[in-house]
Amino acid sequence: MKKSIIAAAAASCFLAGACCQTESMEELTERVFARASEQLALLDSNLDEAGFSEELALCPRYVDHEGNLVTSNIWWWCSGFYPGSLWLVYEYTGDEGVKALAEKHTEVLDSIRFRTNDHDVGFQLDCSYGNGYRLTGNPEYKAVLCDGAHSLATRFNPAVGCTRSWDPAPDHIAAWKFPVIIDNMMNMELLLSASELCGDESLRAVAESHAMTVMKNHFREDGSSFHLVDYDPVSGEVLVRQTVQGFADWSSWTRGQAWGLYGFTMMYQYTGGRQYLDHAVKIAEYLIPRLPEDGIPYWDFDSDLIPDDLRDASAGAIMASALVQLSGFVRDEAGRAEKYLSVAERILRTLASDEYLAAPGEDCGFILKHSVGNKPGGVEVDVPLTYSDYYFLEALLRYRALSSSPRSER
Ligand code: GLY
Repeated sequence: MKKSIIAAAAASCFLAGACCQTESMEELTERVFARASEQLALLDSNLDEAGFSEELALCPRYVDHEGNLVTSNIWWWCSGFYPGSLWLVYEYTGDEGVKALAEKHTEVLDSIRFRTNDHDVGFQLDCSYGNGYRLTGNPEYKAVLCDGAHSLATRFNPAVGCTRSWDPAPDHIAAWKFPVIIDNMMNMELLLSASELCGDESLRAVAESHAMTVMKNHFREDGSSFHLVDYDPVSGEVLVRQTVQGFADWSSWTRGQAWGLYGFTMMYQYTGGRQYLDHAVKIAEYLIPRLPEDGIPYWDFDSDLIPDDLRDASAGAIMASALVQLSGFVRDEAGRAEKYLSVAERILRTLASDEYLAAPGEDCGFILKHSVGNKPGGVEVDVPLTYSDYYFLEALLRYRALSSSPRSER
């Protein structure tokens, strides 16, 4: 059945580059992974040139508008995405050289396992060590994941029912008491996977409590979400709902909707809880009608500059990956699987076009152009970003897995 869904989706004919034949998704995936292999190797050379060493780990962050590679240290929330992309390319190609690069850029993140002052331990370790462990079974990687999950779980407050996102820091614009951002749903995957890996049910309980609280307090009736909810850490009462990276407190910051969609789909994947699946569907039904024709969303669904505003490739890539996954979970429900897969395909085909895919040797070795990190903050606006690359590759691998698995296994 899924084959026919894929075939139907492919009927939305697309011309790749100058070629005059419709490119199959298989061919597109092959083309993108060949490009990704070259680009990520270039990024490694650029990092070496910038001074990367085991003592001074540098992580790619973005490319500025003058074409310079901007790096971060390992504590920046995105440090796991580049090694994660390398693991995904290794998964697709089996290239031992890429595996060596993936190990090099994963293992410099080791000290994150004991980090307790931020929530993004999940993003950082899951994409790097999580993929590494999945693909190699390296027991040292498993130990890092278990430590990291326990570090993250220290941020849980039972009165609130959530793990805290940010600690007070000089660059945070408000004196929040216990801020929780929608993005944090993504970090729950480390708790759920480590709960199974390390045999600790309490990690799963933390993730479930967090997800149920976010479902209750972050979401509006229409399925859109606030970016940040601040809580009283003693009473657990909601103090304020607002945005940080979106257009307005009342608006739908697009990547936040993407994190929610992915997060609740992932919660269903690990727990089988029907409430998570229903919620993911509600988010999908909210955002799909708001996508432009080519599938790549504006950076905020409610920006006042639409249709002249910036698109955000990162949100598109995250949505595509989540929608492919979700399409595999709603197969009994009339038309939804087909719809979600075809929207994902539309997004992926646009991202694989010259408009978004970096040309060979360009963009310092990133894969995708045109993402928006933080428009209100004036940071990372219309640039290549590591998480766009990671979720783009993940979405293509998920799409391939779905189209090649026998129906009985779906
Ligand atoms: N904090 C993650 C993001 O910018 O989406």
